[in-house]
Amino acid sequence: MAMAKLTIDGTDSATLTTDGHEVDLPVITGSEGEVGVNISKVRAQTGTITLDVGFGNTGSCQSDITFIDGEQGILRYRGYSIEDLCEHSSFIEVSYLLIHGNLPTAKELQQFEYDLKHHSLLHEDMKKFFENYPRKAHPMSVLSSMVTTLSTFYPESTEADQIDLNIIRLMAKLDTLTAFSYRKSVGQPYVYPQNHLSFTANFLNMMFALPTEPYQVSPTLERAMDLLLILHADHEQNCSTSTVRMVGSSGANLFASISSGISALSGPLHGGANQAVINMLQMIVDDGGDYEKYMAKAKDKSDPFRLMGFGHRVYKNFDPRARIIKKAADDVLDELGIEDPLLDVAKHLERIALEDEYFVARRLYPNVDFYSGILYRAMGIPTNMFTVMFAMGRLPGWIAQWKEMRSDPATKIFRPRQIYTGPTYRAYTPIENR
Ligand code: CMC
Repeated sequence: MAMAKLTIDGTDSATLTTDGHEVDLPVITGSEGEVGVNISKVRAQTGTITLDVGFGNTGSCQSDITFIDGEQGILRYRGYSIEDLCEHSSFIEVSYLLIHGNLPTAKELQQFEYDLKHHSLLHEDMKKFFENYPRKAHPMSVLSSMVTTLSTFYPESTEADQIDLNIIRLMAKLDTLTAFSYRKSVGQPYVYPQNHLSFTANFLNMMFALPTEPYQVSPTLERAMDLLLILHADHEQNCSTSTVRMVGSSGANLFASISSGISALSGPLHGGANQAVINMLQMIVDDGGDYEKYMAKAKDKSDPFRLMGFGHRVYKNFDPRARIIKKAADDVLDELGIEDPLLDVAKHLERIALEDEYFVARRLYPNVDFYSGILYRAMGIPTNMFTVMFAMGRLPGWIAQWKEMRSDPATKIFRPRQIYTGPTYRAYTPIENR
């Protein structure tokens, strides 16, 4: 195998030596000291590309939005720690912070809340779409399609004011879309948004209010949901966010880009893991609580089973979000007097995994999805809607990243290369000779 050598010369340049070529490469240092070698000119100068399957070592952009230190277990939005935001802030304030770059003043927050409340209704014609999905349709598929549908009601414009209005519309309508798709799936009438309720209380009301009696939103659950949304609000260049940026890099509109992000999030290795965790915990309970059997399966490379909710591409230490959710799950269940056997199973599994050599050697810790499902269950959210809840939380992050990508003069259409490994030239064979 031919080899190349990369030498980092100090803080602002690097040299790549490959097959007799020597190329000087600029080095970029981020505000937290992260160092990246800019390889974008390597192919033009040497005819060689870099190969990084899964992009584990590739930066796709420079970004001011979210900082993660996976070794230390640090997560910050726009410089503010996730712990501080969870303790002092609200999801709406965090959304403003992510989208606009700074915490809002009281007046800015009031205006933002007002705008969100006054755009939360769906166009009445949109309701007709819900009628045509099969009852058993997965809510993530419905959500992704309905977000694309928004672009047929609110067409794209390149005017900044119109883009900002579409951002408000999307933020305001996503939870209405989610609640309506749930009501349709259980055959209940839609509950319209109520402007006197907070963002989270309004969502819970749209989900669970009955026509016959008012729904009392539990303040404990209202706060727990706010916390979950804050914790999911952004996570830099993960699979769905990179998808939003990739689709948006072609100039596709906001709704199309976010809809693609929702589809990317649905997979079980990404946002779909929260649903998969609960299914896994239930399977372990139903199988008589045989933890050892499932640990062995997770470690067996010939078995596709993985311990869902464990491991992370970036965190090689505790995912700070998992710590916060675990504590919240304990507190909320305690406060509401709910006993969930799956919480005990999860804790037991975590204890075993954290002491197991396989998990220790690979630095696999519980991630954000390991305990979030326990909280969603306490709220009465059905398992197949967990990933939709993740999408609601992630929306301001996707929007912030899409906006940043659009306004960055360095943005180019995303167009990775490949190393072709297929057949070399073959002459076409007529069908009768095959
Ligand atoms: N159970 C068993 N083994 C695992 C697990 C797991 N959950 N996660 C990673 N490994 C092993 C993997 O087999 C590999 O072993 P080896 O080095 O012997 O080949 C090693 O650990 C490294 O794993 P990887 O798959 O190369 O790591 P990755 O960075 O490509 O994948 C991941 C990260 C999150 C997809 C993976 O850890 C995983 O599949 N976890 C379970 C799914 C999950 O919980 N996903 C939610 C992620 S957090 C929320 C989000 O981002 O959406």
